[in-house]
Amino acid sequence: MISVEDLAVSYGDVTAIEDVTLDVAAGRFVTVIGPSGCGKTTLLRTIGGLESPTTGGVRVAGEPPERAQRRGNVGFVFQQHTLLPWKTALENVTFLRRLAGKPSKPDAARELLDRVGLAGFEGAYPATLSGGMRQRVAIARALHLGADVLLMDEPFGELDELTRETMGIEVSRVWREEAKTVVFVTHSIPEAVLLGDRCVVVRGSPGRVVETFDVDLPRPRDRSVLESPAFQRRVAAVRAALTDDR
Ligand SMILES: Nc1ncnc2c1ncn2[C@@H]1O[C@H](COP(=O)(O)OP(=O)(O)O)[C@@H](O)[C@H]1O
Ligand SMILES: [Mg+2]
Repeated sequence: MISVEDLAVSYGDVTAIEDVTLDVAAGRFVTVIGPSGCGKTTLLRTIGGLESPTTGGVRVAGEPPERAQRRGNVGFVFQQHTLLPWKTALENVTFLRRLAGKPSKPDAARELLDRVGLAGFEGAYPATLSGGMRQRVAIARALHLGADVLLMDEPFGELDELTRETMGIEVSRVWREEAKTVVFVTHSIPEAVLLGDRCVVVRGSPGRVVETFDVDLPRPRDRSVLESPAFQRRVAAVRAALTDDR
């Protein structure tokens, strides 16, 4: 579904990522983890057609990413929510779908707001919501778009620990039900392991993929997974890949 081949992206003299080759099969959930500045956002934006490769190439469902994105086949959740301040929570959830020329589904939008814990806030404007609530509206909006590919850039950064776990479990559930292909950027090691089928570790400047882990923990995963020795072993392995000398 997503194919990244020998990708490098530079901003002027600064090369953000280099030598990145990554294939994500349809329906997989891949997490990307790495320290700040290693090029995670650049990688995600390039997969989404918002940045252009300097060398190498990206395909999303066999198309150039800009085209997949224009057709509404790529949903984003950015680090900072990007809600329209003059629209209500419900309107924010529905408008992207309309923009992509897809039939409106107001009932489904309400249900998504309910699922992310915002029942009763359909009519609220972003300014009246907390940072975490706004981020949850952005997540509902991305899910509502109905894109096959979801690109999420540290989407839970503003949420408290418990809400973060709940949202992670919710996103996994929707991903399973709706067979999305997800690339999820995080700097939280437990989150990367809890959510991913595969966890890609990026390090360096420019950033490169230094290691890839298959996370073969059973699904559905819920909070009980966080306590399991198998989970903790994988967390330790990812931590080692992020911190060892290379
Ligand atoms: N629009 C931009 N213009 C110039 N440099 C950028 C831009 N975006 C990112 N960079 C640089 O590219 C590198 C990777 O940034 P980024 O992809 O945001 O990393 P991460 O998301 O892992 O923190 C950093 O050195 C950053 O300063
Ligand atoms: Mg980033």
